[in-house]
Amino acid sequence: VLYPDLPEHGLIVLIGASGAGKSTLARTWPSSQVLSLDALRGTVSDEPGNQEATGDAADILKLILERRMARKLNTVIDATNVEETVRMELVTAAKRHGMPTVAVIVATPLTVCLQRQSLRPDSRRVPEDIVRSQHRAMVHSHQRLTAEGFNTVIFADALNRLEPYLNRLSQ
Ligand code: CTP
Ligand code: MG
Repeated sequence: VLYPDLPEHGLIVLIGASGAGKSTLARTWPSSQVLSLDALRGTVSDEPGNQEATGDAADILKLILERRMARKLNTVIDATNVEETVRMELVTAAKRHGMPTVAVIVATPLTVCLQRQSLRPDSRRVPEDIVRSQHRAMVHSHQRLTAEGFNTVIFADALNRLEPYLNRLSQ
């Protein structure tokens, strides 16, 4: 195993621009373990792409994460998570519960992220300048994650090689 230190029960924070493939990767975990900011925006506003609902959705995400970590359950955060303040709040909560933290960088090339936007319906399309800035922030975050307190930092493409291991965790 390349990453023997991947915890069985921890907080897994996906990091990547829109279109990077975070939700696709998240589907390799049992759905009850995945907290999707998009899905929660939909829950509070009927529109997963409604940015105005982000604050309310983030409140609920943090509440559910809190209750799951109190049960020591593995949780995957499916959101861009490219801002340090957002990540710090997640890491701080995990530390409070003694849960190990894993940052998974979904470092898909910007050109691919942008091209995938063009295939989406209007309501799910993220503007190009926002995708560019998210991608820049993802690259910038890379060298900061250990200092932020993440116990493990891995790249998503490495997860493909870890698939047998992850499947075992998912059972
Ligand atoms: N996709 C793909 N191959 C992959 C990963 C993703 O073809 N290895 C495609 C998906 O089928 C989807 C698109 O790329 O149509 C975007 O992937 P998604 O997982 O939705 O990206 P997210 O990072 O979740 O984007 P967002 O932040 O906007 O939710
Ligand atoms: Mg997604």
